[in-house]
Amino acid sequence: MAKKIKHIGIFTSGGDAPGMNAALYAAVKTATANGIEVSGIRKGFEGLIDNDLISLTTNQLQKTMHLGGTVLKTARSDRFRTIEGRKVALQNIHKSGIDGLVAIGGDGTFRGVSLLADISDIPCIGIPGTIDNDTVGTDYTLGFDSAVNTAMACIDNIRDTAESHNRMFVVEVMGRDSGYIGVYSGLTSGADSILIPESPQDLEYLLDKIKGYNSEDAFIVVLSEGNKLGLNYVSSKIRQVNDEIDLRFCKLGHIQRGGNPSASDRMLGIRLGVMAVNALIQGESNKMAGICDNQLVLTPFSKIAKQHSIDKELRSLVELFCH
Ligand code: F6P
Repeated sequence: MAKKIKHIGIFTSGGDAPGMNAALYAAVKTATANGIEVSGIRKGFEGLIDNDLISLTTNQLQKTMHLGGTVLKTARSDRFRTIEGRKVALQNIHKSGIDGLVAIGGDGTFRGVSLLADISDIPCIGIPGTIDNDTVGTDYTLGFDSAVNTAMACIDNIRDTAESHNRMFVVEVMGRDSGYIGVYSGLTSGADSILIPESPQDLEYLLDKIKGYNSEDAFIVVLSEGNKLGLNYVSSKIRQVNDEIDLRFCKLGHIQRGGNPSASDRMLGIRLGVMAVNALIQGESNKMAGICDNQLVLTPFSKIAKQHSIDKELRSLVELFCH
């Protein structure tokens, strides 16, 4: 029989992502319905070390679930990377009577809680929250859909001015080492070229394509930040091949991380928040809650190390539309 959970600690860690607040609301709602107390831990692992706890109510969270960012704040913690830091965090967890954790974040967050699991038996369930969509064990991560919609809307705006001047634009999108935001925002905005880390050969196709480009139209290149070539290099290569081009570039940056979550991200947050707390109640531990083929699935943290990368079908779409 699973040990009865009485007090859950919940935190968000790593880069914030739209939908985190919905997941938080759903987790607290589920815990409360099961008579479980919940403490919010502020600023991720930093808050565990500093014992920065707040009480959370469904009433309050219902009013913030539509907001981007995270009401619990977040951080990337160097102190938690040390064993001393983790020991202090564990002491605080015991002192406050927390007997289960829900961690919302990316693969770095799950690596962090796995390290905590090495020195304790506090059960933990993760919820994938990152705009990068680079986590295996779920088809989509919280925040990805919202970030893609934001990037797509920005590229649509850029197209208006690009078409007016017959200019070429190179637009850099986020995604860390993953090309998901690049592929989704590029395809949905009708980009002429998409350069992602997963297929370095795409630059050759771009350079070939622009040899005959005569500036009678706009031309949009979407460049994923994980493509290590970078904006300057890609722009200089374009100029080398065709110096007639009226070229501009634009880095979308953190604008992609903010804004109200899309309906899909709110639903994902709701489903995963409920699932994470139910999993703890059922005695599960050290697993990430995810949705694959519209089914709830739990994946051990140990299997999350691999990056969720662009598959053959998505690559073939990039080839069809951009080569
Ligand atoms: O992981 C989310 C993300 O936004 C990445 O796409 C990006 O590379 C990184 O975080 C930026 O991190 P920071 O906000 O710490 O500069």
